[in-house]
Amino acid sequence: MEANLFQWTDGFSVGVQEIDEQHKELVDLLNQLHRAIMERHGSEAARRILDNLAEYTRTHFSVEESLMRVSNYPDFERHKQNHEDLIGQVTALQSKLDTGEAKITFELLHFLKVWLTNHINEADKRFGSFFASVGGSQQWAPHVQDTMEKKKWWWKFW
Ligand code: FEO
Repeated sequence: MEANLFQWTDGFSVGVQEIDEQHKELVDLLNQLHRAIMERHGSEAARRILDNLAEYTRTHFSVEESLMRVSNYPDFERHKQNHEDLIGQVTALQSKLDTGEAKITFELLHFLKVWLTNHINEADKRFGSFFASVGGSQQWAPHVQDTMEKKKWWWKFW
């Protein structure tokens, strides 16, 4: 089996367990997409994984934004805009894949990996530090639990 595109390390931790768990899932989906391309599983298989990645990314962003709202994160708007920019790019890509104007390439994988790495290491870690400073998951436990419950781990059951 080919090496993973992206290896999770503790250095990526933002200090919020729930967010880290979701980031690990994103990394796993990126690695699945990488494998699908490397092992030539076909464009339909790659597309399915990309769609799952896009859907899960939306779920993850909405969980993160929910934690930002409940903790009155002062940089909420900028972070949310960051999320929306990526969703916009991925949605545009999905449309182009639909019409055959684009393909899932290594360049795309590289773009997603770099985006995720930079976003986790900068924006998400800034939020993680803030969240910890206002009590973190313990302080917001009921809300965190409720949010996670609503965003069930559906992707485990494809
Ligand atoms: Fe983990 Fe701001 O996305």
